Amino acid sequence: MASPWWKVARSEEVTSAKPLAVDVGDQPVVLWRDAQGIARALEDRCPHRRAPLSRGCVRDNGWLQCGYHGWSYDGESGRLKEIPNMKDEQRFPPVYKAIAYAVAESGGFVSVNLDKASAPPAPVLDETFPLNGTAHVSLSQGEWVDTLFDDPGLVLDIRGVQFTPYLMSELREENGLLVMERFCQWGKLHLPSYATAEFPITLITRTRPDTGETQAVLRDDSFRTLLTAQIAPVAAARGVTQVRWRARLGEELKGRHALALRLKGSFAVRENVDAAALRVLIRSASHRAQQLREAILPATPVSSDPSVSPDSSVSAAA
Ligand code: FES
Repeated sequence: MASPWWKVARSEEVTSAKPLAVDVGDQPVVLWRDAQGIARALEDRCPHRRAPLSRGCVRDNGWLQCGYHGWSYDGESGRLKEIPNMKDEQRFPPVYKAIAYAVAESGGFVSVNLDKASAPPAPVLDETFPLNGTAHVSLSQGEWVDTLFDDPGLVLDIRGVQFTPYLMSELREENGLLVMERFCQWGKLHLPSYATAEFPITLITRTRPDTGETQAVLRDDSFRTLLTAQIAPVAAARGVTQVRWRARLGEELKGRHALALRLKGSFAVRENVDAAALRVLIRSASHRAQQLREAILPATPVSSDPSVSPDSSVSAAA
């Protein structure tokens, strides 16, 4: 299976003022913008003595300079461009070349692919949603995505919205994505019988089976879109998942509850997951999701075991 693209930063986080350290699984990556404003990504280890390049600086010409002995690297190729105090007639040892990763940018996200030579075309997002944030969550990436399927309320916070345990239909595969439609309520959750409950809103999620990247759409009972969010959970070091998101509110928000969404903080990915609730959460939609993933991705079956999460594809690519 081709190495996937990972959304490793929001566009505003990547600048030419300071390198940014991110992770893709256990692989440290440094991001910055070169003199043309193009986002670049190298392995975050200097080929000289393995110092993190993210501790260095971006030079005026766009090269990344290591903070230890001052060697400078080109972002596109990873080539060593300059060693301080080296005489003109001396040549750079070719072994000192940083690993360069493929980089793409769209929709307000910077994505990297760890296998530059065989990276497929990067998915393109046409629109950049204005609301955005990054949450660091103490869950493996696989567990985070499973929790999104089983109880979105443990990982997402949408102002005034309560997620019920009820799905409109069984989680399904559609165009290679895992699609879930969940009934929701405004305000305090009542747990009535299924027959008498009112469910004025629905959360529809479309999730990539390989990366867990998800588009979430909240709709009212007239099928008006209240909110759309792009959510990108990426495995980081030490079992942490970095979840980057962007969202926008619908154009036709109507009613008291919907208007409340306009207030600041209408959407967020939770930094802290309720561990007590998570411990007793029964596997439901995530079980079906795993069956579908194994059918869609036969070469790299995805396990629910957090130690063998979708992150395994990262290690392979690294
Ligand atoms: S470790 Fe980077 S220049 Fe020496």
